[in-house]
Amino acid sequence: MHTRRLALVTVVSLLVLATHAALAGQAGQARLPNVMILATGGTIAGTGPTSTTTVGYAVATVGVQALMDAVPELKSVATVRGEQAFQIASENMTSEHWLKLGRRVNELLAQDDVDGIVVTHGTDTLEETAYFLNLVVKSAKPVVLVGAMRPSTALSADGPMNLFNAALLAGSREAVGQGVLVCMNDQINGARDVTKTNTSDLDTFRSRELGPLGSMKAGKPVFYRTSTRRHTTQSEFDIRDVKELPRVGIVYAYADYGRVAIEAFSAAGVKGIVHAGVGNGSVAIDARPALVAARARGIIIVRSSRVGSGAVARNGEVNDDAADFVVADNLNPQKARILLALALTRTTDTREIQRMFYQY
Ligand code: SIN
Repeated sequence: MHTRRLALVTVVSLLVLATHAALAGQAGQARLPNVMILATGGTIAGTGPTSTTTVGYAVATVGVQALMDAVPELKSVATVRGEQAFQIASENMTSEHWLKLGRRVNELLAQDDVDGIVVTHGTDTLEETAYFLNLVVKSAKPVVLVGAMRPSTALSADGPMNLFNAALLAGSREAVGQGVLVCMNDQINGARDVTKTNTSDLDTFRSRELGPLGSMKAGKPVFYRTSTRRHTTQSEFDIRDVKELPRVGIVYAYADYGRVAIEAFSAAGVKGIVHAGVGNGSVAIDARPALVAARARGIIIVRSSRVGSGAVARNGEVNDDAADFVVADNLNPQKARILLALALTRTTDTREIQRMFYQY
């Protein structure tokens, strides 16, 4: 089954690559790839009162056309078109935005005149949108998320170079079939593994446990590894008929956290809880009865970890078989929340959901 799926993915990727090659060969001269830039706001579209303002600036003020105009070099690597999807700070991103964006990306990638997509995004929840798209995009064509840590008005603003690299990557043959990518600070990271690791450093995006997929070198994307997890064309998730995502909450564990948050989520009617446990996903003795009671009410419990890297071992710190819990593998809590919400659009069977956590 898995072999058949991989064969299908390879065929889809080869078809997209063949189209790229045919276009490049047209009339004996290379035709630039068509890259669509979907702008959603964030610091990359931010402005400050002075060129040294890097804290306390206004986010999401510059429109997509101005973002593109600031990088005339884009024209040398792609034929770019822009669309303002949203204009928000990324802490205000909601599942409604995700569903809208996912549908628009799929619509655009189905067009012959779109070879790749760049999504400009605030960095705070960029990894979440990237992972959501990684699971719901139905195309092998490149989708690249990009942001900036300094506003557009800052000295040495990182947005323009990041945007240039993202467009280059989105129009490249190398990025075809690699899943949704994040390209910032010259690095290429996979949507599943990447996370924001620093509040203000330029090299904040890292794939802590596994490392980047590649990097931009002398104007060319170079890949050193690929993700082995299902994504895009191999994904079983389909948002065409999804009106809203099931509600899933995250409970963050700490010394003495008790059961209040678990009971509050449960009373609020969530369909799933991601428990961001300490260490290897441990659950405190005071919190256990509340999680068991939530499960008895039909709420799916996924054990993740607040540590920031490493997998949670099934039946390790907790007897998951007995409690009917699911473990998040090495997905961080915010990404485990997304996978659980999408899983719940298809099933409430915990064995099936556990399979998904080991495959995506
Ligand atoms: C945001 O996430 O919208 C603000 C912060 C940033 O883009 O770096």
